[in-house]
Amino acid sequence: MPKKIKVLVTGSQGLVGSRFVEMSPQFDFVTPELPEFDMTDEKAVKELVDKENPDWIVNFAAFTDVNASEQQAGDEAGTAWKVNVEGTQNLVSAFRSKNFIHISTDMVFPGDIGQPGPYEETDIPPETNEKLTWYGWTKNRAEKIVKENGGTILRIIYPVRASFDRKTDYLRGPLKRFAEGKIYPLFMDQQVSIAYVDEIAETLQKIIETDSHGVFHCSSDTTTPYELITYAIEQLGHDSSIIKACSVHDFLKTQTNPNRYPIYGGLKTKRTEEVLDIHFSSWQTIIENLLGQGLSLPKA
Ligand SMILES: NC(=O)c1ccc[n+]([C@@H]2O[C@H](COP(=O)([O-])OP(=O)(O)OC[C@H]3O[C@@H](n4cnc5c(N)ncnc54)[C@H](OP(=O)(O)O)[C@@H]3O)[C@@H](O)[C@H]2O)c1
Repeated sequence: MPKKIKVLVTGSQGLVGSRFVEMSPQFDFVTPELPEFDMTDEKAVKELVDKENPDWIVNFAAFTDVNASEQQAGDEAGTAWKVNVEGTQNLVSAFRSKNFIHISTDMVFPGDIGQPGPYEETDIPPETNEKLTWYGWTKNRAEKIVKENGGTILRIIYPVRASFDRKTDYLRGPLKRFAEGKIYPLFMDQQVSIAYVDEIAETLQKIIETDSHGVFHCSSDTTTPYELITYAIEQLGHDSSIIKACSVHDFLKTQTNPNRYPIYGGLKTKRTEEVLDIHFSSWQTIIENLLGQGLSLPKA
């Protein structure tokens, strides 16, 4: 039997990384986790990478709490910067191979009228942070490090899955609030997309198995939070008419930090689909697939 490709995965217990590992028995995985493995520890990262000598690294690990990151804005001693930027640098420096895949986000772009999404794989993220969240800026800087070292970027947007006890997502969060009778008005004029975790896993498998490199995207077509959530609730057999629609433009007039609410997000996937010979589902099909995998209204 041919030797399996050895893949070191950071963040393998997270929302997305755990599904990639679960769906990819063809790989021989190394899955270091906190607290034994901390990617901000340069020496520990180098020792692990030298010891395991993987064929590929997929870097899912990140400080992913966008609101908590905002509290650290401008602070390069904060956890968001240390994990997302310095942690990525540590991995890249230790590995020194172009077989490095970094999971990124559409939030490396501003999502505003000046540079609106959906973004193409060839679009260039800004070199300044004035229009980005702090989380988006840390991911933007990490992308730069990876690209300068010949690595690959896979940008994703609002990854969703049928169930995952450790963390909700862009669908299961609002569904939970609906079940609890606490759903707030949803934007009907904000452009968003979702990414199906199973398709993220398939994209990574394709990148590795076809030895592909560059910038790739995994995303559905665009929709709005109001359209997405009311559709999911109706598909689950419930009445969505109690959900109110509201305007992100009006909401932003009440906010001091407009960067926190990008209006025109999203990722185009044409190049990725062509290069990897892969097809991404529409957001409606993703919801149907999730229903088939047991997505349900959580108990209140
Ligand atoms: N979720 C989204 O909406 C979204 C959207 C676009 C892009 N992304 C990107 O997709 C990737 C995966 O996101 P996710 O939602 O699956 O993340 P997640 O569920 O928050 O998981 C992140 C993982 O990183 C680990 N981690 C954090 N700090 C670490 C450190 N210092 N050393 C080693 N491991 C560390 C966490 O371990 P612990 O659990 O032990 O802390 C966890 O396993 C991230 O790069 C994120 O930026 C996510």
